[in-house]
Amino acid sequence: MIYLDNAATSWPKPPTVVQAVADFIKRGCANPGRSAHAMARMADEAVMHTREIIAGFFNISNPLRIVFMPNTTYALNTAIQGIINPGDHVVTTMMEHNSILRPLSTLEKAGIIQIDYIEPDKFGRITIQSIKKTVTKSTSVLCMTHSSNVTGAIMPVAEAGKHCRANGVLFLVDSAQSAGIVPIDVENMCIDILAFPGHKGLLGLQGTGGLYVRENVPIRPLVQGGTGSFSDSLTQPDIFPDVLESGTLNVPGIAGLGKAVQYIIDTGISNIFLKKQQLLRMLMEGIEKESNITVYSPIPEANSGILAFNIENMDSSEVGYLLDKRFGVCVRSGLHCAPLAHRSLGTRDRGMVRISPGFFNDENEIDLTVKALQGIARGSYR
Ligand SMILES: Cc1ncc(COP(=O)(O)O)c(C=O)c1O
Repeated sequence: MIYLDNAATSWPKPPTVVQAVADFIKRGCANPGRSAHAMARMADEAVMHTREIIAGFFNISNPLRIVFMPNTTYALNTAIQGIINPGDHVVTTMMEHNSILRPLSTLEKAGIIQIDYIEPDKFGRITIQSIKKTVTKSTSVLCMTHSSNVTGAIMPVAEAGKHCRANGVLFLVDSAQSAGIVPIDVENMCIDILAFPGHKGLLGLQGTGGLYVRENVPIRPLVQGGTGSFSDSLTQPDIFPDVLESGTLNVPGIAGLGKAVQYIIDTGISNIFLKKQQLLRMLMEGIEKESNITVYSPIPEANSGILAFNIENMDSSEVGYLLDKRFGVCVRSGLHCAPLAHRSLGTRDRGMVRISPGFFNDENEIDLTVKALQGIARGSYR
């Protein structure tokens, strides 16, 4: 099997991650922040250790401003429901995932907010000029992805952040497709709120992710409950991370996430990005002579690691099916949870095939995939 669906979730995981999770479960995984016994303290330390590693990785000065969540979707919903107020003007883009579009659209339909959507170019890129035109001093929040899950296009987040900061606009970034691949510095990029997955580019397990909220950004909790702190109070504590971190955490997953981010730091994020670019370039060069293939993704240097394409007169699901059944190549096809992106790119009817190599794929696997694609495009398997 050749796994090329890393934009959905990464696989395999570094051996140190697998080891750390297994060790943690074997040694005992008590509930952190609740009891005071030795095993609970060990869990506490593991969670804090991961918070510190992630803080260093994203240049977050206070690790306690990082809240662990099960995935990016929870983090984005917490942010959107927690910071947006009635009457707000919210700007987002046509390239967003449903985990931004659906909560925003619910608020809009209820008459609570007004939304403006920024259109992309033909590769799904949002320009800084269009951001500056749409985000004004009367905007409350700009919610946007750092990189598209449909085409892989990397967005001008640093410039957008500076524009937001200069105009008093809150800046919420979805790093689902960039964290662990494209460097993120919340200070330099003026990011107020960052939602991140643990299970994609950060190379941790499914069921991990989180939210960073800058100091002094007011946010209401989406979920309230046990935090292990202020137990006598009927009110959710307002200190971080407790305010947003109720209920039992995925401690083995978080322990593994710490090892995963350490693996990225030790490997060098630039080496990971370069490897992805090299594999993507091989794929793109391998199919560029097939005149019946349309590519929607930008060049590898401007791309977090996705080749999105269609073959003329074939449904994307048919291509995905052939890759899986005939060649054992795992990719995603159809619509990619970003309905407005498909409208902008004109692929609402048949979706796209999405190939997303990971750091652990090799050239041989890409070579086999290119040959399979050439064969499918030339009609050898219909
Ligand atoms: C851009 C983007 N945002 C959000 C999400 C949701 O991520 P999660 O599965 O971690 O909830 C995804 C998932 O693919 C994504 O690609």
